[in-house]
Amino acid sequence: MTAAVRRMQPGDVEAVAAIEAVTFPVPWSQTAFAEDLEAPGRVWLVAEDAGEVVGYAGGWLLDDEAHVMNIAVAEEYRGRGLGRALLAALRARLAAAGARRITLEVRPDNTEAIALYESFEMHSVGVRANYYAETGEDAMIMWGDVAVSEAALDAPTPPGDTLLLAIETSCDETAAAVMRGGRELVANVVASQIDFHARFGGVVPEIASRKHTEAIVGVIAEAMERAGDALRELGDERAPAEGPLGFSALDAIAVTYGPGLVGALVVGLAYAKGLALATGRPLVGVNHLEGHIFANVLADEAVRPPLVALVVSGGHTSLVHMPEWGVYRTLGETLDDAAGEAFDKVAKVLGLGYPGGPVLSRMAAEGDPAAIDFPRAMMRSGDYAFSLSGLKTAVINHIRHEREAGRDIDIPDLAASFQAAIVDVQVAKAVRAVKETGARAFCLAGGVAANPALREALRDAIEPLGVHVSVPPMHLCTDNAAMIAAAAHYRYLRGERLGLDAEADPSLRLDTPQT
Ligand code: KG4
Ligand code: ZN
Repeated sequence: MTAAVRRMQPGDVEAVAAIEAVTFPVPWSQTAFAEDLEAPGRVWLVAEDAGEVVGYAGGWLLDDEAHVMNIAVAEEYRGRGLGRALLAALRARLAAAGARRITLEVRPDNTEAIALYESFEMHSVGVRANYYAETGEDAMIMWGDVAVSEAALDAPTPPGDTLLLAIETSCDETAAAVMRGGRELVANVVASQIDFHARFGGVVPEIASRKHTEAIVGVIAEAMERAGDALRELGDERAPAEGPLGFSALDAIAVTYGPGLVGALVVGLAYAKGLALATGRPLVGVNHLEGHIFANVLADEAVRPPLVALVVSGGHTSLVHMPEWGVYRTLGETLDDAAGEAFDKVAKVLGLGYPGGPVLSRMAAEGDPAAIDFPRAMMRSGDYAFSLSGLKTAVINHIRHEREAGRDIDIPDLAASFQAAIVDVQVAKAVRAVKETGARAFCLAGGVAANPALREALRDAIEPLGVHVSVPPMHLCTDNAAMIAAAAHYRYLRGERLGLDAEADPSLRLDTPQT
């Protein structure tokens, strides 16, 4: 699913009224929606999937109080968190317009809706008698504070003193970080399992989940220990006189819940849920890829939407447009292998070990990128799709051919030529995406962002367009929990929460609204 939440336009009214008609006994007409869209103080949003409107929500702002009018999702799209995403976005925008509390009416027997509103810290304050004209039923009135400041909406990481623990276990690093106020890392611990997987030439999922289980308690204890030390040094009164920071000092627990290896994700998620339950602190879910993008936000204050991000890791290669904070549209992605995967597979054939990216890029620095002419698949396909399996096969065939002919392979030349073929295509598509979307910033994200040739080529191609280019510092390129904390902080301020019944989603998409 590729749903995104955006403002309702006049052209959406027909589709919105069609959903309304089959959802409510006394539905609003198309004209009613069209008129309300123009009325003062209104915020109307739609959820869109592949260009089709599949849900909507509307709010009405009166002074500092906002009233949620309608919220509905097309029947076949229910149960995917769209209602929650619409409400989160509506709440954030009403808050940005000055709302301090939010109210709504709900049928007292609609337990599902009530649970959703309660998860946004809303509660029942009374009954509105004979509210539903068609049946004469009473409505339950709910309200809650909108704990989002205007400053929080202007910047994803405003100053503040929120203390957040973030946990990341989506692949082969067990990581935990504690962050203060959205930017200040007071602990950042990463336990890599790479050595355990290296002998198999890649990540073995069963080993990954077992190692996460073994490591997680120690990694989190270490993070809390370091956070205690750092906060004491900063004179933060939440730090105990000695020893680790207590869990009760935290404001929220954040965790990566997808995409990644399901058996690995569940380890972090189960721990985070347990901690949220034990401490009563809210749980915030983060998409791993959003985390990679936020490594840039964390390190570079100039990163702001509208932006384009190139996400290149061991599992992903995609170009993403972020028109505003928290809204993602995947422009295109790889049809087969991911860029990091291509590096890893080529290195494996050359017997260079796992992971292949770092060693191949070091070799490439010594070689001639023009030595061998490898294919640049889809370079001129006119879209944002990538295909890397052909390149991988071409490189492997070249290696075999040379070996059969009894010739020595010049590994630096081969690595440089292979890397150049990858870089050329990534740069061409990134430039096109920046131009076509009118983005003002560009971010490189994911493990392959550590590749020096790619970093340099993107800077050289995109900076002359007058677009700010951000590449994360090396230590934030590969998996870590600092980037998860940065993404979580911003979602936390927007009031977005993950339910304690949430499941790990191995194929969670960036375009999917937060659930
Ligand atoms: O983001 P990440 O740590 O894990 C995933 O989410 O997949 O990315 C790991 C990937 C591996 O495939 C690794 O080979 C690649 O990033 N990588 C590199 C470099 N450093 C790491 N690829 C190319 N050049 C590098 N210098
Ligand atoms: Zn990653």
